[in-house]
Amino acid sequence: MVIDERWRQWKSGERQELEDFLDVLITLKDGGGNPLLTIEEVKAQSQEMMFALVDNPSNAVEWALAEMVNQPETMKKAVEEIDRVVGQDRLVQESDIPQLNYVKACIREAFRLHPVAPFNLPHVAVADTTIAGFRVPKGSHVLLSRIGLGRNPRVWDEPLRFRPERHMASVEEGADVTLTENDLRFISFSIGRRGCIAATLGTTVSVMLFGRLLQGFTWSKPAGVAAIDLSESMHDTFMAKPLVLHAHPRLPVHLYPTPSATI
Ligand code: HEM
Repeated sequence: MVIDERWRQWKSGERQELEDFLDVLITLKDGGGNPLLTIEEVKAQSQEMMFALVDNPSNAVEWALAEMVNQPETMKKAVEEIDRVVGQDRLVQESDIPQLNYVKACIREAFRLHPVAPFNLPHVAVADTTIAGFRVPKGSHVLLSRIGLGRNPRVWDEPLRFRPERHMASVEEGADVTLTENDLRFISFSIGRRGCIAATLGTTVSVMLFGRLLQGFTWSKPAGVAAIDLSESMHDTFMAKPLVLHAHPRLPVHLYPTPSATI
């Protein structure tokens, strides 16, 4: 309904300013200056964007917060990093992302241990091939287990433990932590020709969401809860019980956008 209404506004000339990605999609032009996308294509693109850009970061951030409330020393380290890099006089910005290495290590650990889905998107072999000694005939459907990779005890020490420090080695070697994993020891954005086209955007949204939640609030368990229940849903890899926490503001009040300021 939102897209139908926006489409109507543009086609009637009622709307003329670009404000969000829906406006951009509706007004895209081809080389000859004609509208590029049909309304069905705009709806499909918007849906893809929502699935990719809302589900992935929010699942990772929900799991990371849950794990970190159970292990307050990890939470403390991440908040200290934000206070050191950003301070408490302004909000986390995209330009801070390269320096928020521990924060990124926490999200990376959530991608490893709690992938948004148990399997990667299906791939089909276009030719006969051999991988690690296994013959894969042309036409085979190949399903990579994200859980099998991320929790492989031959690759990961104490694989079921949420331990962001395991991703900090690159910092000691002088490189920033990234959310991509080019050695496929787990799958975040995957790699190769079918890998995610939006690792930069996905990283930005994940770090901004998580960084601002950690910077803006002190998170704690609800009264009477000894530890957050980290069980997975029977049907997928989401939390079986959606995370419920207390959020206590920790920044000066003017830094919290009011509803009227965000519209
Ligand atoms: C944190 C956010 C995201 C994560 C973790 C993520 C992860 C992934 C993964 C694991 C794949 C499968 C790669 C494979 O088949 O090997 C994928 C594919 C894809 N992603 Fe993302 N994604 C994210 C955000 C986005 C966004 C924002 C967009 C679009 C704007 C996007 C567009 C795509 C597309 C088009 C593919 C299919 C590529 C192909 O099959 O050629 N993703 N993504």
